[in-house]
Amino acid sequence: MSAATQPILRTGNTSPAAPVHVGIIMDGNGRWAAARGVPRALGHKAGAEATRRAVQAAGEQGVSWLTLFAFSSENWRRPADEVRDLTGLMRHYLRHEVDQLVEQGVRLRVIGDRTAFGSGMQAEIERAEAATAGNTRLNLNVALSYGGRAEITKAARDLARRAAAGEIDPDAIDESALAGALETAGMPDPDLIIRTSGEQRISNFLLWQAAYAELVFQPVLWPDYGPEHMREAIAEFRRRDRRFGARAG
Ligand code: FPP
Repeated sequence: MSAATQPILRTGNTSPAAPVHVGIIMDGNGRWAAARGVPRALGHKAGAEATRRAVQAAGEQGVSWLTLFAFSSENWRRPADEVRDLTGLMRHYLRHEVDQLVEQGVRLRVIGDRTAFGSGMQAEIERAEAATAGNTRLNLNVALSYGGRAEITKAARDLARRAAAGEIDPDAIDESALAGALETAGMPDPDLIIRTSGEQRISNFLLWQAAYAELVFQPVLWPDYGPEHMREAIAEFRRRDRRFGARAG
């Protein structure tokens, strides 16, 4: 097991640590808009504002890694105008948030199939990644056209190709090799995964990496998410007794 995937055994919960890596399934933009009788696009716009607040809150609350599920591989099935609104918003965010991210010491990376987007969006992603590459206070992963099963499948395919080419021994493929072939290679696994809006599903998010994550479901709709909600989720995480399959005490 690589150092990055090695869980830190903390039994007995005597000294509950803060999460190093937090993942968020940002859910509820549509319901937020419906509750106000406004177009869904306005819900997503308010969701983008909440994203900005969450990045700031994570930095202030000592989180080192934040992974946001912004667009799933399944979201392409939404009506074309909604997909256009969402990709437009994300492109706007990437272009206009970079200075703010640099100011906050945030390094942005995109995980997921970026080739599914147009060349303009891909260029925007590359620009934002390059401009923030030197920052170390908070690592921000934005999952775009991301699906956990697709990520694992691609890793398996890459390893199979390397084995077929004689570069690696199939018997040497262990959990660490698989983890190292994922897009999150070298990153710590998420300790805490939050989903907003009251839905209680993982929805193909970080399937491999979430093996030992604590799940916290909060009823708040994503556009209403603020620093106080992240504080509550982290407090709930710190009350949990993480055993990673071992026995307490
Ligand atoms: C879920 O709400 C949210 C999304 C599908 C997209 C998340 C996108 C953003 C927060 C905005 C842009 C992102 C960035 C990185 C700037 P939903 O539409 O599924 O809500 P519903 O379940 O209430 O319909």
